[in-house]
Order: sequence, then structure tokens, then C-alpha cells
Amino acid sequence: MTAAAPALDLKEEILALKQARNAVILAHNYQTGDIQDVADYVGDSLGLAYHAKETSADVIVFCGVHFMAETAKIVNPGKIVVLPDADAGCSLEQSCPAPDLEAFLKANAEKNYYVIAYINCSAGVKALCDVIVTSGNACKIVNKAPADRPILFVPDENLGAWVMEQTGRKMDLWKGNCYVHVEFTRESIRRIKDEYPEALVVAHPECTQAVRLLADEVCSTEKMIGFCRNAPVKDIIVVTESGMLHRLSKECPDKNLIAGPTDRCACADCRYMKMNTLQKLRDCLANLAPRVEMDEAVRSRAEAPLLRMLEQSK
Ligand code: 13P
Ligand code: SF4
Repeated sequence: MTAAAPALDLKEEILALKQARNAVILAHNYQTGDIQDVADYVGDSLGLAYHAKETSADVIVFCGVHFMAETAKIVNPGKIVVLPDADAGCSLEQSCPAPDLEAFLKANAEKNYYVIAYINCSAGVKALCDVIVTSGNACKIVNKAPADRPILFVPDENLGAWVMEQTGRKMDLWKGNCYVHVEFTRESIRRIKDEYPEALVVAHPECTQAVRLLADEVCSTEKMIGFCRNAPVKDIIVVTESGMLHRLSKECPDKNLIAGPTDRCACADCRYMKMNTLQKLRDCLANLAPRVEMDEAVRSRAEAPLLRMLEQSK
């Protein structure tokens, strides 16, 4: 009797399934290191949206949170889009339900708002907006908004406040926030700066103003790569979700990258991003589920502001 073939290692199984399905694996910078390491592309929301739109694969496996996978489906509806855990949500998305935004816009119809949505929102919210932004292009796109209309910015009040500081453009802000980034405090970042007095600080714009003011650079996760690579110092305090450290340590091996702490923890994890695992990634490739599906009327209405963003951010 011949011995059974050894079970394929999970990573090999994923790569074999990926080939069999003609799939592409896209992963956000906050995914666990093992997922980032099997992905075809790892990046921020903007880079991921471009890759999702341009791929010729039959299946997009989106390792990130639900609104990101939904964005992939909106811009490339002919593809099968799956994600490892369909419950991987986002506190920003939850803070702005589409019916609430619709009611607000109706109640304030006389203002004739130009509505700008941070990409961290549902397809239903995107469908109600004029243009979408990510943290990587928000300032550029807000600068292109019609000068004769008031702007409503949803759903992140912190990113919105940062964009106002950068562009000088006044906006009315929806009161949403990222539950991970608001955990960093002035005190927690001051303490780590005292420990590493030579360090530079890079922070995500979803942080509060008190934290942003302590940063040498405020930028999207992708722009953090360039900042850290070119920084003239070795120690860099990275004030964002912990997964970023994996990507950064690969791209900038000569730097001492220090996770920004909160008052409670040495680093900050997004519980939604961390719902995805290598096993669930294997399973979604094998089963082609859970899939992202949506009503075509909502999808096509959400596509217009996303395409406007991709065009305006070139
Ligand atoms: P980036 O687009 O900068 O990667 O940000 C996405 C996100 O969810 C930050 O919390
Ligand atoms: Fe949403 Fe914050 Fe998690 Fe990003 S880190 S996916 S904004 S909850």
C-alpha cells in the first residue's frame, strides 16, 4: 500500500487554488503578515481600487474589510468577488447608514450639498454621493470640488478635519470615526516619543487632531512607505493599525519601526481586519464564497462617484 500524499501546506493550497480559479489576491496593508505574504498586491484603499478595476483575473479575492470588497465589485461587476470573512465590517461604515444620510440630505435639500464620501462607507452611501475620496487623494479631490457649493463630508470627522486644515476648504462633517485610530491619545504618543527622542512620527489622518499635531507626517498607509524609506533617522513611530508594521518592515528593513501605542495597548489592532485568516482565505477560494453581490441600481449609482475619484486622482 502506498502512503497517502502529504496534505498540502495551506499556503501552497492557496496558490494552487488561485491558479485553478484564475484569481487575484488583493490585500490591505492591515492584513496579517501571512495573508500579505500570499497576496499578489498589498496596498492602501486607493491602490486596491485601481487594481480591482484593472485586473483581468476571473475572481478577485479581497483580503480586507467588506466595503473594500464591495468597491471592487462596484468598479468591476463582471468579476466574482469573494472575501474571507463577510462579517469584516468597519466602524466608519457603521457610523453612516445610507437611510440616515438620505434623510439628512432630504431635510437639508435647500443647501444643495456637494457630497464627498470617504471610501470607508457602504455602496448605499456611495450611491448618494458626488465623489469618493481615500486618505491618499482626499486633499487633491476636495480642491477640485465646485467652489460655489457647500460640501458635506461623510463619514469620518477626523479625516474631514485634517482635509480642511490642508486645503482651507470649509466642509460640514458627519460625526463618524474609526474606533481604532481614536484610541491613540496625545498622552500615549507623547510617552513613546519620550522613550525614543530621536524618532520621527508618522500618523494616519483618521487620528484625532491632538495626535496629528504630534506627527511629523500625516498620510495614507501607502504614503507611509515612502516617508519611512526616505526618513533621515532610524527610529520611526508608526501611528496606525498594527498590520502596517509587517509591510513597512519588509519595505524598510534598515529602519527601527515602532508601533504607536494606545493608552491600553502597545499597538492597535482592527478587529474587523483581523477576522480574515489564512484558513478562511483558502476556504473562500475553494468555495468561491462568501461573495459580494449587490442590487444593480445601487451599484451603478455608486460607480459614478468612484470613477470620478479614479479620474480626478490621476
Ligand atoms: P488607507 O486607505 O490609508 O489604507 O486607509 C484605510 C483604512 O481603513 C484606514 O483605517
Ligand atoms: Fe474601519 Fe478603522 Fe478598521 Fe480601517 S482600521 S477598517 S477605518 S475600523
